[in-house]
Amino acid sequence: MSPSRSSSVRSTSLRARLVAVLTGVTAVGALLAAGMTSAHAADTPLRDLAAAKGKIIGTAVTGSKLTGTYGDIAGAQFNSLTPGNAMKWGSVEPTQGTFNWTEADQIVAFAQAHNQQVRGHTLAWHNQNPSWLTNGSWTSAQLSSLLQNHIGTEVGRYRGKIAAWDVVNEPFNEDGTYRSTLWYNGLGVDYIASALTWARAADPAAKLYINDYNVEGVNAKSTALYNLVKSLKERGVPIDGVGLQAHLILGQVPSTLQQNIQRFADLGVDVAITELDIRMALPADSTKLAQQAADYKSVTAACVAVTRCVNLTVWGFTDSDSWVPGTFSGYGAATPYDENYAPKPAYYGIAEALGGTTTTPPPTTGGCTATYSVVSQWDAGFTGQVKIACSGASLSSWKVGWTYGAGQQISQAWNATCTQSGAAVSCANASYNEAVADGGSVTFGFNASWSGSNPVPTVTLR
Ligand code: XIL
Repeated sequence: MSPSRSSSVRSTSLRARLVAVLTGVTAVGALLAAGMTSAHAADTPLRDLAAAKGKIIGTAVTGSKLTGTYGDIAGAQFNSLTPGNAMKWGSVEPTQGTFNWTEADQIVAFAQAHNQQVRGHTLAWHNQNPSWLTNGSWTSAQLSSLLQNHIGTEVGRYRGKIAAWDVVNEPFNEDGTYRSTLWYNGLGVDYIASALTWARAADPAAKLYINDYNVEGVNAKSTALYNLVKSLKERGVPIDGVGLQAHLILGQVPSTLQQNIQRFADLGVDVAITELDIRMALPADSTKLAQQAADYKSVTAACVAVTRCVNLTVWGFTDSDSWVPGTFSGYGAATPYDENYAPKPAYYGIAEALGGTTTTPPPTTGGCTATYSVVSQWDAGFTGQVKIACSGASLSSWKVGWTYGAGQQISQAWNATCTQSGAAVSCANASYNEAVADGGSVTFGFNASWSGSNPVPTVTLR
């Protein structure tokens, strides 16, 4: 295609827009209908916006599709690629001792030609293993040498070409106990330390990660991961990062995402958002797409806010190459581009959080309301929350205020910055939740003291 990256993007999106017009849906139309932003962000590729913030932005890819528009977008917009399936054990060694590196090699070559990193995915997992491995009966000594050889062979083959490996994938159950797998059952918990150690030996330059899902917010599973990483570091086992997969549901970005990223960073490891997608019940409509834009924006902003959050990767950049419809029945439209390669509002949500220039219309408060409630109350304290919800309008930022009538005093707030002067309280959005989409809402919480009585004040939205 054309020689410079940005001109190639422009012609790509022009073509995408033509296709979109023919099918009757324009991405710009969806944006304006949702009261959001205009399409200028497309002029600067996401990879350039990310680079200016010191971040890497990636996408999972399918090797056979890396031509035409798919290849143009993958090459122009992203500076990291993750093979969606090509490096899994079942793909590379379908028959014991017979290897197929075709797709993995192709993706690595494409990445090198486009000045992109590669995230290797994945070495020790319970899914997508070859049947000869899962159906075999192995002693633990045999299992150990199978895994060691697999890691040595695959990591060794790509030595020096992979920025980071998801060495261990999905080791935990939801309650934070270890998942019962071939590896855990056969080798005990130290299969994790062994896998990391073997990977380090095979490519000392690659960053080594443990990757899992439902570990985006602070919860039992992410705390188990946290404790594992902490103990591995204390033991001197090579561990460089944690991957938060982030297969999310519309409107359900965990409110503790940034806090969770930060606590891993504070342990001295990097964090990557490795498989971001945000699924919605089909069919998509402009309200859902606007909420999705706000969700993509808040996830991206949480990564931008923490220095050690180094990479944000979407699990497929187009709805035509997403695992969601085939896996979560009735759900789809989970990625930043539609099936015709037109950028969706979600694309602009990412671009905005990366500092992309967009034109925001004057905020309207017409259809937005703020509702105050007491969530729990004890002796001298209580937890309250305020929900800001919009319908038929949207907000690009928000501020609420109220006056306490009975001496209540706020001590701490989350998901907003609150100040109290005398009886007057004023709370403003955090950096990651300023947008409230048409049909969407944002909630923040706080702790406060009370005595005598605790009446609910009247809240004004400014
Ligand atoms: C998915 C792929 O996207 C699908 O094509 C495949 O059929 C199943 O696996 N967590 C992971 C990824 O770590 O490897 C999975 O990828 C999605 C969930």
